[in-house]
Amino acid sequence: PDPLPSAGDLLAWYDRHRRALPWREAARDPYRIWLSEVMLQQTTVAAVAPRWRRFLARFPTVAALAAAPWEAVAEEWAGLGYYARARNLHACAQAVVARGGFPDTVEGLRALPGIGAYTAAAVAAIAFGRPVVPLDGNVERVTARVAAVEEALPGARPRLAALAQGWMAQAPARERPADFVQALFDLGATICVPRSPACVLCPWQAGCAGRISGIAPLLPRKAPK
Ligand code: ADE
Repeated sequence: PDPLPSAGDLLAWYDRHRRALPWREAARDPYRIWLSEVMLQQTTVAAVAPRWRRFLARFPTVAALAAAPWEAVAEEWAGLGYYARARNLHACAQAVVARGGFPDTVEGLRALPGIGAYTAAAVAAIAFGRPVVPLDGNVERVTARVAAVEEALPGARPRLAALAQGWMAQAPARERPADFVQALFDLGATICVPRSPACVLCPWQAGCAGRISGIAPLLPRKAPK
């Protein structure tokens, strides 16, 4: 088997190059982390930052959000798209308050209304330090390239998830799950980008099977529709 890419190398890169995003100063407050992850599923980082701040100025706690009338939540969500998502957000806040706070495990988070596999893993890792990797488009791309997975999406997803999870099992990652996950996001967003990855700047270039075989820009492959 291929050697694992070094979690320590990625974390050292992250320590020097991490993007200063507002929710990274959120001191592990699950409410603020959860809100950022829901917003980031449909909107770019640049567009989310001001909206995340404004939303929190209006609803500073999960209790404030839960107690707000739906009309106020819908108004604050305007322009962020998909009202179903705002409905879920409101229902989820009410469920969290009813149970006395956010659950701190993937399974507990998954059981909340409107929280899927991605959001549950993101909040578990970033807010609660659980060693789990949420699989978004960035993480799929980085993982497919580093391990040169040629199987197409969406079929390759379980394999990509297992690979990324294996990287998280290394001691340096397990000790800093929130940073490791966000390092994967940043690597995918700034270096391991879709068309022309900047491999010469990548902390994982030496062991990247996709780069070594010259197919990195072609990965991940997508099944024809
Ligand atoms: N995309 C989704 N979640 C993110 C996060 N926490 N930081 C940066 N990009 C993200």
